[in-house]
Amino acid sequence: MKKLIVANWKMNPNSQEEAKNKFEEIREGSRGLKSEVVVCPPSVYLYASGFGEGVISMGAQNVYFEEKGAFTGEISCVMLKDLGVEYVIIGHSERRKYFLETDEIINKKIKTALQAGLKVIFCIGETAEDRNNGDKEDVLERQIKIGLDGVVSENLNIAYEPVWAIGTGDNCSVKETKESIEFIKKFLNPENRILYGGSVKSENSGSYIKEAETDGLLVGGASLDPKELIDIVKSAE
Ligand code: PGA
Repeated sequence: MKKLIVANWKMNPNSQEEAKNKFEEIREGSRGLKSEVVVCPPSVYLYASGFGEGVISMGAQNVYFEEKGAFTGEISCVMLKDLGVEYVIIGHSERRKYFLETDEIINKKIKTALQAGLKVIFCIGETAEDRNNGDKEDVLERQIKIGLDGVVSENLNIAYEPVWAIGTGDNCSVKETKESIEFIKKFLNPENRILYGGSVKSENSGSYIKEAETDGLLVGGASLDPKELIDIVKSAE
């Protein structure tokens, strides 16, 4: 199974030109590397990406579960597929927190995306409060059981992202990540890749692949620097 390295640009950068330059640098740097590299820009830049010319894949950061109609501001799976998008991130903690996405909404999105032929990167993770209260495993189990209710697919990837580790520089230790990954694995099929995300940089990325035995990484802030992202991809080789 190839390692999966996903760049989540979130709401960055501020211009098409900057986005294009980053795509090109990542595409060039990824040539000949063994891992699968997926870039998830804001959806307005998906079209400008040139779709990686087979070197990198494109992913969306969100999608809606209805097929079409009166849903102002939303984008459907069919539209993403038509554009050539291969992956979609669903259930990111920022969507859960700021856009009030529930486990049930996430479940609908995952089902629709898989049915449409998109590959899913399903994010789960506990908050600092959950962790301090000793509720981590209960929270992960709830997110998985509801989020994946009725879902079995080889196109499903899980990203374990402790919320307290996202964008904080306080990345999860290899030991704790490994324990969580082992816990999560119990609910999945062997073909589902499990990634780690949360303050990944080139200086810590290799240890998540080699020591925590993850199948890849979901990278936020560091993925906006193409050189840093390529170093992360190389560390997974
Ligand atoms: P970070 O973000 O790498 O900036 O911590 C990860 C994510 O939110 O996917």
